[in-house]
Amino acid sequence: MKNFKINISEVAHKIPPSGIRVFFDLVLGMKDVISLGVGEPDFVTPWNVRERAIDSIEKGYTSYTSNKGMVELRIAVSKYLKRKYSLDYDPEEEILITVGVSEGSDLAFRAIVDPGVKVLIPEPYYVSYGPMTSLCGGKPVFIKTDPRNGFKITPKDITRSCDRKTKGIILNYPNNPSGASYSKGELKNLADVIIKKDLILISDEIYGELTYDSEHVSIATFPKMKERTIYLNGFSKAFAMTGWRIGYACGPADIIGAMTKIHQYTMMCVPIMSQFAALEALKMGDRSVFEMKREYRRRRELVISRLNEIGLLCHKPEGAFYAFPSIKGSGLSSMDFSKELLKREKVAVVPGTAFGESGEGYIRISYASGIDKLKESLDRIERFMKTIRR
Ligand SMILES: Cc1ncc(COP(=O)(O)O)c(C=O)c1O
Repeated sequence: MKNFKINISEVAHKIPPSGIRVFFDLVLGMKDVISLGVGEPDFVTPWNVRERAIDSIEKGYTSYTSNKGMVELRIAVSKYLKRKYSLDYDPEEEILITVGVSEGSDLAFRAIVDPGVKVLIPEPYYVSYGPMTSLCGGKPVFIKTDPRNGFKITPKDITRSCDRKTKGIILNYPNNPSGASYSKGELKNLADVIIKKDLILISDEIYGELTYDSEHVSIATFPKMKERTIYLNGFSKAFAMTGWRIGYACGPADIIGAMTKIHQYTMMCVPIMSQFAALEALKMGDRSVFEMKREYRRRRELVISRLNEIGLLCHKPEGAFYAFPSIKGSGLSSMDFSKELLKREKVAVVPGTAFGESGEGYIRISYASGIDKLKESLDRIERFMKTIRR
């Protein structure tokens, strides 16, 4: 009898598996590996946040909520964004609570991308953006950025990458994996060209709180930008809440309305206990975030100075918790470097190519790990570099 075989849809068949996952499948099953691979805070969610979720369960809050998210939470998000970034969003019409920025960005792409439409994606980029565009039938247009310019996209890069079919652009700053961020002046110049080219902007600012040397500025605050920006943020990174799966999308009412429709048919709502937890996170003021940020900053200093001493040249990340050093001096490809480092020294990093072609010659190191682990793995990387140079 002929075996039954499901034909996977062409679009699902064509999207590549995440480069991070492909590499980390190798790590699974290996003993004593120090992983600097995952983009996840090593802190546990602050206790009062956990307690609020426990309390909500004990009180029997186990139902669906409004599809848009609990109104109290949308109001709290609106106030937080006003206080932190001078953003003005109406909790009724312009804010949607999502299952992390992951769902927020998926909804954003689905709400604006029709088949054939092009979306600009600056490299190196967070792994989801390309596949999300393709899943909508759109065409991702990757823009290489210059490491000498700190991997930042310029207005010229945008202008020369646009054609008649270009509808949108995604910006992620501080950036995963490069840590690059933008000053107010740089953002203003980008905003001008985004307006001139009549693009819709998806602005993934999930690492906004983790900006070290200056204030994070949201590009949606520039004149005429709010009406064309889908602003994405969440709780995973700043509040150490990755497992709670909660974030939010803000934007003009018509776009948020379209995203809400898709969300209604797919997620319905974010789990209610996560919404209670998020409400508490926004209530607790800035102290916990400030303390975590201070610790990340300390780790950043250690990691960047050691990498440069070892000869893995690395610009100073302005935000997030990643270093993106060049491994070009090793003579190895990103993948071979990462595999050899794993095999010989049991340190797992992510090959730069997971973040686009121009990531060749780089690796991503997450410094969301304790300082002792970081020191030990940097010692191992140094030893590894000595062995391959011989
Ligand atoms: C740039 C960026 N956007 C979105 C996400 C997904 O975040 P969330 O946990 O909110 O879905 C990540 C996670 O690593 C990220 O680095």
